[in-house]
Amino acid sequence: MSEIVVDNLTHTFGKGSDSALTVLDNINLRLESGSFNAIVGTSGCGKSTLLKMMAGLFDPSDGQMTLDGDIIKGTNRRRGMVFQQDAVFPWMTVARNVSYGPRLRGASKEEQAEIEKKWVQMVGLSGFEDRWPRELSGGMRKRVDIGRVYANDPDVLLMDEPFGALDAQTKERMQSDLLDTWSATRKTVVFVTHDLEEAIFLADKIIVMSARPGRVHHIEKVSLPRPRTNDMRLTDEFLTIKRRLWAMLEH
Ligand SMILES: Nc1ncnc2c1ncn2[C@@H]1O[C@H](COP(=O)(O)OP(=O)(O)OP(=O)(O)O)[C@@H](O)[C@H]1O
Ligand SMILES: [Mg+2]
Repeated sequence: MSEIVVDNLTHTFGKGSDSALTVLDNINLRLESGSFNAIVGTSGCGKSTLLKMMAGLFDPSDGQMTLDGDIIKGTNRRRGMVFQQDAVFPWMTVARNVSYGPRLRGASKEEQAEIEKKWVQMVGLSGFEDRWPRELSGGMRKRVDIGRVYANDPDVLLMDEPFGALDAQTKERMQSDLLDTWSATRKTVVFVTHDLEEAIFLADKIIVMSARPGRVHHIEKVSLPRPRTNDMRLTDEFLTIKRRLWAMLEH
C-alpha cells in the first residue's frame, strides 16, 4: 500500500511578508497505490513545489498530505525523488552510485553487489557498472539516477521532468523502459512533465494544473491498455486526449 492523499493543501512562499506568493491553492488529490500519475501545467504553476512537498523537503502552509494515512513530514526513503538535473555523484562509478543508499544504511558487501546487479540491469546499464559518470551520455546518467532511487526500494517515486533534457528518441526509449520497471515493481509514481505526449503515454491519471495560483484544473483518466506501445501514440484515443489537454493549457 502506498496511497497519497492531498487534502486542502495551500502553499504561500514568504507567508506574512510583503512579497508573499501563493503558489498552490486548495489542492485535493487522491493518488491510488501503485498508480502512475502525471502532473502537467504551464511553467511556474507550482508542479515542482507540489512534488517537493510530497518528498517532504518542506511543509505546506495549510492543509496536508498523507501517505497511507500518515502525514508527510520530512524526507523519508519511502519517498524517492528524481530531480530534473541529474544528481549522480561524479566521483563514484555507475554501480557505486546505484548502491549508494543501501551502503549508507550499512548493507553488507553481498547485499550491495546484489542490489547493483539488479538495478544496473533494470535501468539498462549492464556492461557499464565500472564506468564513471563523465563517460556517460545524459540519458545514461538519468538511468543511473533512476537506478539509485529504485535501489532504495521506495514505495513512492517522485520524478520532476526527468527526461526533459533528452532528445526525442532517447526520451521514448526511457519512457518505455520506465514503464517496464514500473510494471515489475508497481510503485506509486508521480511524474511531472511539460510534455503532454509523455504524460498520456505513461500515466493512468493526468492532473492538469492552472497557474497563479496553482489549482487542479482537470483530471484526465487515461484508459489506454497496458503494456503501452509506441504505436498507441498515433491512435484516435491518444490524439483526442492530446488535443483536449492542449486546448486546456492554451487557456
Ligand atoms: N523557494 C521559493 N521561494 C519563493 N518562491 C518560490 C520558491 N520556489 C518556487 N517559487 C515560486 O513558486 C512558483 C512555482 O514554482 P515551481 O518551481 O513549483 O513551478 P513549476 O510548475 O515547477 O515550473 P516549471 O515548469 O518552470 O518547472 C514560481 O512562481 C516560483 O517563482
Ligand atoms: Mg518545475
